[in-house]
Amino acid sequence: MTRTQVGIVGAGPAGLLLSHLLHRAGIESVVLEARSRAEIEGTIRAGVLEQGTVDLMKEIGVGERLVREGFVHHGIELRFAARAHRIDLTELTGGKAITVYAQHEVIKDLVAARLATGGQLVFEARDVSLHGIDTDEPRLRYLVDGEPHELACDYVAGCDGFHGVSRTSLPDAVRTEYLRSYPFAWFGILTEAPPSSAELIYALHDRGFALVSTRSPSLQRLYFQCDPHDRVDAWTEDRIWSELRLRLETLDGWKPKEGPVTQKGIVAMRSFVCEPMQHGRLYLAGDAAHIVPPTGAKGLNLAVADVRLLAQALTERIRTGNEQRLRAYSATALRRIWKAQRFSWWMTSMLHQFPDHNAYQRRLQLAELDYVTSSRAAATALAENYVGLPWES
Ligand code: FAD
Ligand code: PHB
Repeated sequence: MTRTQVGIVGAGPAGLLLSHLLHRAGIESVVLEARSRAEIEGTIRAGVLEQGTVDLMKEIGVGERLVREGFVHHGIELRFAARAHRIDLTELTGGKAITVYAQHEVIKDLVAARLATGGQLVFEARDVSLHGIDTDEPRLRYLVDGEPHELACDYVAGCDGFHGVSRTSLPDAVRTEYLRSYPFAWFGILTEAPPSSAELIYALHDRGFALVSTRSPSLQRLYFQCDPHDRVDAWTEDRIWSELRLRLETLDGWKPKEGPVTQKGIVAMRSFVCEPMQHGRLYLAGDAAHIVPPTGAKGLNLAVADVRLLAQALTERIRTGNEQRLRAYSATALRRIWKAQRFSWWMTSMLHQFPDHNAYQRRLQLAELDYVTSSRAAATALAENYVGLPWES
């Protein structure tokens, strides 16, 4: 049996960043990840980093490539009734911005940083199970190449995403789960074409939502609302582009830049929170505890905010014995999480066609968009949430 101070389940942004933050505080951890390094470094997911996420990554020495290769955006566009409206994020928030930098690049930077400092990352750790979280010496059991291993820890961090094992280790009697599913999904593509727009475009059309994002000078990321039961193969390249052209059209003839589609996939849309995020010596962080629909671009950023708090709390407990922050972790993290839930639900509601909406509800949606793009107060509320609310402490 091996031993460490903090056993971390999952090498997503939450688990890797937590391990790096703990290392900087002189605390040992081991990260157990079910997938291979190549798989985690190749999975295409989020793209938008809040100002605070970027500042934190720079501060802890993992921001060098992000600064060199990421794209700083000072605004976003809301498009509806075939007209474009810009939200000036930087002017409305007193100088903040977002950075477009792919999640798998963040993962690569964090893996490299952990390995460079002797961090212990166990890839392809199968059948991870949690034991004794109600005791002072919790243990993680797992298999590598069919061989059983056991890791004794002082604390366990469940950072294994929505489908992981950690959340279900919280007894049913202490766990409350809040869930909202949406009657649509997102179809996402990567395409070999230069950016269609200097800033992200969130569009509402009678046929549904569409989003233009970017990845690099030669690669674009686009999404559009689809039926959750759609099959990926039913969407040929021609059908994808004609749908995107329709949904993104403007009165002055704007067209997306088209290219070969190199990747396509369907993303479910749900809102979910598990409370509390702690039991015994197990602490949940990131998607293991909560999910937001991607419309507000908050998922990765919330995972970062959770582990920032958790690293501070564990550091204080381990260094000084003071348990106050650790006891407050779940309640403190949930304050930000519920605000991000509200924002993500609101952006989603404002920008998608709901199959059960009547004509009255569709007119209200347009009035909401008209208000947000014509009132400075309303635009400021959107902007301060989009660039990221201040950290909880
Ligand atoms: P994950 O990234 O899910 O990591 C969990 C890790 O745990 C995985 O590597 C998994 O393999 C591992 N694991 C799972 N089960 C086990 C197990 N039993 N044992 C060991 N390991 C296990 N967020 C944003 O902030 N901005 C965006 O623009 C944005 N866009 C998105 C677009 C899409 C299409 C999608 C799908 C998501 C998007 N998100 C966005 C959300 C964001 O990707 C997630 O919120 C983020 O990945 C959460 O990080 P995490 O570390 O908590 O979980
Ligand atoms: C992305 O670039 O993947 C992206 C951008 C904005 C979102 C969601 C995803 O709201």
